[in-house]
Amino acid sequence: MLVYASKTQNVARFIQKVKYTDVLEVKTGMEEIEKPFILVTYTTGFGEVPQEVQVFLEKNHHLLRGVCASGNRNWGMNFAKAGTMIAQRYHVPLIHRFELAGLRQDIQIFEEGVDQIGLFREE
Ligand SMILES: Cc1cc2nc3c(=O)[nH]c(=O)nc-3n(C[C@H](O)[C@H](O)[C@H](O)COP(=O)(O)O)c2cc1C
Repeated sequence: MLVYASKTQNVARFIQKVKYTDVLEVKTGMEEIEKPFILVTYTTGFGEVPQEVQVFLEKNHHLLRGVCASGNRNWGMNFAKAGTMIAQRYHVPLIHRFELAGLRQDIQIFEEGVDQIGLFREE
């Protein structure tokens, strides 16, 4: 399934555009999950993983199969760094990094990456 976090709705709009329908939003980090998932998150602070996402991953990282992050290129080296950090920390593929709500090409890259991981065959 897809798990996402979105503060100002960019990631939420990205999620609405992708073909998968099994979706959970992380709001507090206390959400419960029992299936493997792909995470799509925004980036905050100076290239940081949002707090609620950190809390969620502490409990559920064993089910994490890949990560994708939104950001803004104005942040330079910190562009979508939440994705890079999560991929490194939990040893999962960084599927893609995109700006704001993503363009059509971002959706395509993301879906190809998710399909390659084969998550939705696993369920
Ligand atoms: C306070 C704040 C800090 C941010 N820091 C970063 C950052 O370090 N790197 C980055 O790429 N984007 C950064 N962004 C941009 C957001 O990650 C980007 O707008 C994203 O699309 C937001 O997703 P959301 O609308 O789903 O919350 C920041 C935005 C805000 C408001």
